[in-house]
Order: sequence, then structure tokens, then C-alpha cells
Amino acid sequence: MTVEQGWTDLRIPRHVTIIMDGNGRWAAARHMPRIEGHRRGVEAVRSTVRSCREAGVEALTLFAFSSENWRRPAGEVSSLMGLFRFVLEREAQALRRNGVRLRVIGDRDGLGADMARQIEVAEAATADVDGMTLTIAANYGGRWDMMQAARRLSAEVAAGERHPESITEEAIRSRMALADLPEPDLFIRTGGEQRISNFLIWQLAYTELYFTPALWPDFDESALEEAFKSFSKRQRRFGRTGGQVNKVPSD
Ligand code: IPE
Ligand code: IPE
Ligand code: MG
Repeated sequence: MTVEQGWTDLRIPRHVTIIMDGNGRWAAARHMPRIEGHRRGVEAVRSTVRSCREAGVEALTLFAFSSENWRRPAGEVSSLMGLFRFVLEREAQALRRNGVRLRVIGDRDGLGADMARQIEVAEAATADVDGMTLTIAANYGGRWDMMQAARRLSAEVAAGERHPESITEEAIRSRMALADLPEPDLFIRTGGEQRISNFLIWQLAYTELYFTPALWPDFDESALEEAFKSFSKRQRRFGRTGGQVNKVPSD
């Protein structure tokens, strides 16, 4: 799609991943219950999806619920699940109209049969659109992701279908979540913490990291633009020297 005005002078990452953090603190600062922060967080998701689509981002991956978030009070967990269910039900058609394909990554077994079915319905509703891929990580953990790849490969070895020597980086990569997307170019974490919190630990190996103190419900288009500006200034060397990267290829 064409890149809209305003984004044209920036280098646009192909794949953006975001840890949407700070909803609880946003609500607490306003003497509101934490769930109100999560509700406002959904608004920030809508705006970020729209902006990324306009900017020409190919893939956007959002951390919605981690495998560690089950440790929160039961009331908050069930409110978050309710909100997720509501969004899945309500948003699939709008995403489809806007050319956004929805996918969910994470351990579905832990989400229950009802939720798993709803995820399938929402994914199926947008399966044939290809403007931008929006991936929601729910009950996701980077260590879980590696474990499930290891299990699949070891089952193939046990069945005599592969030799241990054929377990290459590529064999692992292709069994991890997001394997069919370009590798994440930019990682954004809102809320001020500077950690990965068991998000995409394999996939982020060479991703540019960007941390902002902005709380997720306040993360708007101009905040995204700031992140893209920072990304535009980075020199991605992938192990090479700066000189090698700057060299204009000759033919
Ligand atoms: C992120 O906001 C949303 C989820 C983890 C589901 P938090 O709920 O972690 O907000 P803070 O970090 O407590 O402010
Ligand atoms: C990470 O945020 C998970 C999500 C945003 C879904 P947390 O708020 O749970 O992370 P920690 O526990 O502070 O590292
Ligand atoms: Mg948090």
C-alpha cells in the first residue's frame, strides 16, 4: 500500500513488536481500577494498528498476556481474558475491512477450549487479507516458544525422521512463532521498564530496542513516530563494521 504523508521521510520498519506496558499505572494515577487502564489500552491498540498500517508496516506483533501474567490476582486475569474475548469478537470484521490479517501466538491449551475456538474464528475471518499481519501474543512466553520447537524436533528424531545433526538454526527458527514473517526490526516497550519479560527471546536476537517511559494508554501516533525516528537513525550492522555497511554496492 502507499505510504501516507508524514511517514515518508522515515525509515519504516517491516516488522514492529511491542510490549504494551503501563496500563495499571495509568489507571492508578487516575484513581481508577487497573482494568480501566487495560480498556484504555485497547484504544491505544486500535490507534497503533491504524498508524502502522498507514505507515506501511508489514507486521505488527503485540504482547497482550504473558505466560507469567497468570500470577496476577484472579480478578484481573479474568477481566483481561474477558476483554480479549470481547476484542476478538468485535474487531475481526473491522480488521478485515482495513486489510489486516489477525493471528494469535502462545499456548492455546492454557486458554481453554472456548477461547481457542474464538481465536480460530477470528483468525479465519481475516485469513485471506494480506495488507498487514497483526499478531497478538496471548499466554505467550519466549521460553515456551523454544520448548515447543524443541519438542517438535525431538519427536521427529524419535520417529526416525531426522538426525540430531540436522537440527540447525534454520530448523529451530522455522518451528518458532512468527517463522513466516520478516524478523522483527524494531522492539518497543512502553511503561519505562527496560526488560524483555520473556517476550520473543529467540526472534529479537538482532532487533533494534526502543524503550519509552510513556504508559501504554498514552502511546499515540506521535509516540510511534518518535520510535520510528529513533529507528531511522540506527545503523544495523549485524556483526559487520560500520564501514562495510556504508559501502555502496558496485556492480
Ligand atoms: C500491561 O500493563 C498489560 C498487561 C500486562 C496485560 P500492566 O498491567 O503491566 O501495567 P503496569 O505495569 O502494572 O502499570
Ligand atoms: C509484560 O508486561 C507482559 C505484557 C505486556 C503482556 P508485565 O508488566 O507483565 O512485565 P513485568 O512482569 O513487569 O516484567
Ligand atoms: Mg506491567
